[in-house]
Amino acid sequence: MSEIARGLEGVVFTESDLSYIDGQQGKLYYLGIPIEELAEKSSYEEVAFLLLHRRLPTRDELSAFEEKLKARRGLRVEKVASFVDYPRDVHPMAALRTAISELGLFDPKEEDLDPENLYETGVALIAKFPTVVAALKRVREGKLPLEPRDDLSHAANFYYMLNGEVPSPEQERVLDVALILHADHGMNASTFTALVIHATASDLYSSIVGAIGALKGPRHGGANEAVLKMIQGIGDAAKVPEWFRERLEKKERIMGMGHRVYKAYDPRARILKRYAEKVATAHGRSREYEILEAIEREAERQLAPKGIYPNVDFYSGVVYSDLGIPPEFFTPIFAVARIAGWVGHILEYTEKDNRLIRPRAKYTGELDLPYVPIEQR
Ligand code: ACO
Repeated sequence: MSEIARGLEGVVFTESDLSYIDGQQGKLYYLGIPIEELAEKSSYEEVAFLLLHRRLPTRDELSAFEEKLKARRGLRVEKVASFVDYPRDVHPMAALRTAISELGLFDPKEEDLDPENLYETGVALIAKFPTVVAALKRVREGKLPLEPRDDLSHAANFYYMLNGEVPSPEQERVLDVALILHADHGMNASTFTALVIHATASDLYSSIVGAIGALKGPRHGGANEAVLKMIQGIGDAAKVPEWFRERLEKKERIMGMGHRVYKAYDPRARILKRYAEKVATAHGRSREYEILEAIEREAERQLAPKGIYPNVDFYSGVVYSDLGIPPEFFTPIFAVARIAGWVGHILEYTEKDNRLIRPRAKYTGELDLPYVPIEQR
């Protein structure tokens, strides 16, 4: 048997045009377009189209796609009502996982694996994820969920449903950029999970529910929430050098740092850092930002030589907090963005490969042992 690739590191199992990470140079591309270009000039709706169709839309195609998303934002009343029965103290990612599973129960075409139905269901999920996440937040706060508004963009409507007010153009833009930056990222753990489930010919909801489960973990999407808890635990930038030293001595990880593929600065973190700096100075969030900068300074000396730099989760929390999003909802926001990548990869895999994914483990046990009766063990 071939050598063991622990954590599947370096294993290539399929082809994909969706996104490319140059881990040495710290570059990211969606369909060949640098992420910086998309973050500056595109919208989440356009990026979602790009990931589903593997090309940029024309103006008419984009308008039609935006309308399609708007038309699918709503949830059935009984669906929203069931959120009220979820325990209030569960993690919102657990609630999201359950809610998306429930959406599948109410979809009569859940088992239809025809590519056209996969596409339509995928678009519906992209449209509904913000509505579900916002409804979960409002219910947790003891408030009524808000109906989506079809006069607002994907990001603006999401902000409105979360906070009950229409965002300023700046707030809308920040959320739109954050969604663009998180929309896809190669063969990451949650995307791989989605593909493993999809390749068994299971339904789309099962794939997405599995992906949510993978994203929830603090080594993956859950890191953004862990970063904010880390900042709150430190409390003051002056305490960072000692905190950092103790943390490394105890062999504990600095959350929001390091990446399996990037051995350079994550380009998404660079973009979010600019926004974090902006909101820090404009809206009095300098304490959190200063702590992050102090951690980055320590990491520059002690971790950068090992190729460990800030990743996308390092600065996103400051930006989300400024948008009125509580820390436990940071990872659900990530899911609202990443659903486009999950669906895009599923559509692409269906078209190009569609083969069962089934690796092996090197067997290290014994063989032909006798069966010992229970009373003799
Ligand atoms: N802080 C301190 N040391 C670290 C960190 C970190 N954040 N990340 C990696 N290292 C060190 C490890 O201790 C190890 O050192 P050693 O060789 O001296 O033992 C070395 O770097 C390699 O670590 P691995 O765990 O083998 O690297 P892997 O590729 O498996 O780790 C991971 C990637 C899980 C993301 C890791 O960097 C980590 O735990 N980071 C913190 C959590 C985080 O921010 N996750 C979000 C990732 S981005 C995303 O999913 C959206």
